[in-house]
Amino acid sequence: MGSKQPHEFLSPVWRDGIFNGRVAFVTGGAGDICSAQTRALVYLGADACIIGRNVEKTEAAAKDIAKVRKGARVIGIGNVDVRNYDTLKAAAGRCVRELGSIDFVIAGAAGNFVAPLAGLSPNAFKAVMDIDTLGTFNTMKATIDYLVESAGAHLSPNPENSPPGGRFLAISATFHYTGLPLQSHVSAAKAGVDSIVGSVALEYGPRGVMANVIAPGPIEGTEGMERLASQDAIAEDAKQANSLQLRPGIRGGSPGIPSGRWGTVRDIADATVYLFSAAADNVNGHVLVVDGGAWRRQGGSLGVGLDPGMQYPMFLLSGEVSNKVKDGRKKPSKL
Ligand code: COA
Repeated sequence: MGSKQPHEFLSPVWRDGIFNGRVAFVTGGAGDICSAQTRALVYLGADACIIGRNVEKTEAAAKDIAKVRKGARVIGIGNVDVRNYDTLKAAAGRCVRELGSIDFVIAGAAGNFVAPLAGLSPNAFKAVMDIDTLGTFNTMKATIDYLVESAGAHLSPNPENSPPGGRFLAISATFHYTGLPLQSHVSAAKAGVDSIVGSVALEYGPRGVMANVIAPGPIEGTEGMERLASQDAIAEDAKQANSLQLRPGIRGGSPGIPSGRWGTVRDIADATVYLFSAAADNVNGHVLVVDGGAWRRQGGSLGVGLDPGMQYPMFLLSGEVSNKVKDGRKKPSKL
């Protein structure tokens, strides 16, 4: 079964084998969210190639995901940066040679850190634009011919109920809906991601490819949240949820989120299975927000990079940002 139990990455509503004979190509597939998405697809019958920068991490994740179903083939292709089109194109070619096709693509590789405009160098802004926006374009460009082929071979709706093909999915965010302090780089990059997917839907829909976006909210236990939320703020959130007896028994309670809790990787995996399944045969150019309604409040009490008590706009005027988020920088901060 690998390192995770099925209930951790999938709800019990899906039928076994709905992705039999299909192949997923997933950038960022060793990451917390994308590995759960891949695990769910493989559990339900797909084979997969996961793509990443770090060779060891990517290959280890592929081995672990393959254990989720007997006979599953999962290849980890490391040393691929989505900013480099040629390595991505070569990875897509290898995936088709070794697994036979690419039927589903997830453009999931992303970069993030907390920084105000004042602390963002042109190169820092470019790094995130390049990974998220250009990376999504490159991933689409390297795989779209295979997706067109897959859509042609597996028409949907399909009277024989065989699994569909030709599905493209990008992982975005919700920051650009309202704007969010300390996230100007990611807001710009993800607005671009949403726009690219809209264009894919328009230009490749007539060839049978369905292209959509999932916009996750705050997801517990992920590298992304380590980079965005201070441990003190998370602990304070949980304390308040407990004292309010908010949804007792539910893990990760949060009074700031309308659903009363943080998201889980399983929420995102379930949404992915829906969009790749025959249930979403005519869903194209859609942004599926999976955040418990959080974005509707993010201009208010929800923020990133803040410790308890830090208020807008005071933390900006003082130049103060929580030092309890994962910085991820090789060199010391210029802030
Ligand atoms: N605050 C401000 N600037 C930062 C920063 C931070 N916390 N972290 C990185 N930068 C800047 C760097 O200083 C550099 O700019 P400079 O050359 O002007 O000094 C620029 O961003 C690029 O950094 P570098 O580390 O060389 O880039 P990279 O390509 O190796 O890494 C990142 C890209 C910065 C996005 C890195 O955080 C990363 O690889 N992230 C992937 C994992 C991730 O973010 N997961 C969460 C997804 S939600």
